[in-house]
Amino acid sequence: MFSNYQLDSFKDRTTPFYFYDLNLFRKTLDQINEHGVSKGYHVHYALKANSHPRILNEVIKAGLSADCVSGGEVERAIECGFSPSKIAFAGVGKRDIEIEIGLENNILCFNVESVQELEVINELASKNNQIAKVALRINPNVDANTHKYITTGLKENKFGINEKDLPDIFELFPSLKHIELIGIHFHIGSQIEELEPFKKLCLRANELNEVFENKGYKLTIINVGGGFGINYSSPDSSGIPDFKKFFETFEKHLTLKSHQQLHFELGRSVVGQSGSLITRVLYTKTGIEKNFAIIDAGMTELIRPALYQAKHEIQIISDQSGRTNKQYDIVGPICESSDVFRTDYEIPELKRGDILAIRSCGAYGEVMKSRYNLRHEIGTAFSDEIG
Ligand code: LLP
Repeated sequence: MFSNYQLDSFKDRTTPFYFYDLNLFRKTLDQINEHGVSKGYHVHYALKANSHPRILNEVIKAGLSADCVSGGEVERAIECGFSPSKIAFAGVGKRDIEIEIGLENNILCFNVESVQELEVINELASKNNQIAKVALRINPNVDANTHKYITTGLKENKFGINEKDLPDIFELFPSLKHIELIGIHFHIGSQIEELEPFKKLCLRANELNEVFENKGYKLTIINVGGGFGINYSSPDSSGIPDFKKFFETFEKHLTLKSHQQLHFELGRSVVGQSGSLITRVLYTKTGIEKNFAIIDAGMTELIRPALYQAKHEIQIISDQSGRTNKQYDIVGPICESSDVFRTDYEIPELKRGDILAIRSCGAYGEVMKSRYNLRHEIGTAFSDEIG
């Protein structure tokens, strides 16, 4: 995965830092184009996964659209060069000022998550004498079989509009003179490894599409969200998710009307495998029953293990010749017991100064970092700069 040249350059850098393999990232984007965009699908890149301008530049070059969840992300997307006509703005709690940013820029659409939000967007659009385009996020009640913090499509959670509220919405619509309903939107969760939940989503989306059609709405956008998972345990052999199978599931099970476009909002599957967190071993120590390796990255740089019990592969990338394997708890330096990357993890014997790569960190890694404990800002490196 890492070239010798890259490994050499890592030695002189201050750790921890994020490293992005832009070659892999471009190949991943090519696959999305080959298997999804080529079918006429509109793929929005979910900025929340990674909004680094260098990453966004590649996404723009590949021609994808954007999915934003805050006014800040809408601004970042526009600054980096996404056309506002390709930006969808989602999120369960948009502030008025953020809605105004979307209106001022005349974005593609707002994905709306509550009846009250519809009314607020209508009011703000009327002040600007505009018509806001919206897609309704409907909760399809499909179980994504993923971690409870990242499942979103079940009937009782904060996201989306419940199907039971649809009659009220149909009644309300004629009075919302500054809203144009252009689509319906779904998102059932993240890190979904099986295709079955997506098939179920398609079947629910077909039913709901009919409900709107029968009410006389001509929806142009069917947005099925994101959520396609990556293989955290084999980052090298599964560097690019199987987008062919993913898009084929929708081609097979979703019934679009001739005037309808299919939209996706993919984050993790686009950028997840292209990023690693490079860190050094600070100290090793032997506990009563365990060996500990204390590294210079912590939950402040990568919170996924502490927050979701996520298991990222950790590889030793400095010279390891002649070492036998040993088991370690690999832990960070933060004053929190949850600051643990792996427990009982087998890896060649570690020594102070060894350089490690925590893999599959391209999505929800750098964007979720914090300055807790007043940790120093960390750097970012791209394969283009260092070979
Ligand atoms: N669309 C909506 C409405 C979403 O809420 C999300 C992710 C996406 C698209 C993109 O989903 P993806 O393709 O990346 O699965 N921080 C967590 C993941 C949170 C996902 C939030 N929503 C993690 O590190 O696993």
